[in-house]
Amino acid sequence: MPFNRSIKIAPSILAADFANFGAECRAIEAEGADWVHVDVMDGHFVPNLTFGPAMCAALRPHIKGVMDVHLMIAPVDPYLEAFAKAGADIITAHVEAGPHIHRTLQAIRALGKKAGVALNPGTSVEAVADLLDMVDLVCVMTVNPGFGGQVFIESQLPKIARLRQMIGDRPVHIEVDGGVTVATAPLVAKAGADALVAGSAVFKGGSVADPAAYGANIRAIRAAAEAARG
Ligand code: DX5
Ligand code: ZN
Repeated sequence: MPFNRSIKIAPSILAADFANFGAECRAIEAEGADWVHVDVMDGHFVPNLTFGPAMCAALRPHIKGVMDVHLMIAPVDPYLEAFAKAGADIITAHVEAGPHIHRTLQAIRALGKKAGVALNPGTSVEAVADLLDMVDLVCVMTVNPGFGGQVFIESQLPKIARLRQMIGDRPVHIEVDGGVTVATAPLVAKAGADALVAGSAVFKGGSVADPAAYGANIRAIRAAAEAARG
């Protein structure tokens, strides 16, 4: 089976109705989301607090497809088993979250989950050069993590292109996270990304009661990304 490097849209539920997460997950999947991106924040690694493994476990029955868990927490190792048990499919840790990212990625794979590593805008792509044979995904942050609705940091585009070169034929997804919209999706797709996280750009204008906008937003972002690939 050739590695599936087609464009995937991963709405971030950080932009969803926090009082209605289950219904929001069902709505975005029904409207065409490929993955559901779950932003876990601890108020320590990032200046915001969202939710933990219990929330992921509660969401699991409402997500038919891939639960893409983005751990913006430090330390990360003590919580890996809980997120794996909660039903995460992909568990992504930040290379900046501690001194032992290699051990963290080994632990994620030992739990039977797909392993991702994330890079903040200030971190060189060389920081993952020695990890590319032990990950399933590299997430390039195009905002400083902690909040949705921020402005895309264009200086990250050469980093994405360099990462695409470094990955070569390895079965490793490039995920881009932060400020992805119809306008920036073509830039990241052209640079080599295949998994596009989008929170505010997907949820804007819609609701659980009226999710049509979710579908329109997802289709527009996907079309813009695919057109840029040619
Ligand atoms: C930020 C999160 C992102 C964010 C994306 O720390 O990791 O996933 O929710 O939100 P938008 O697409 O609105 O920038
Ligand atoms: Zn995220």
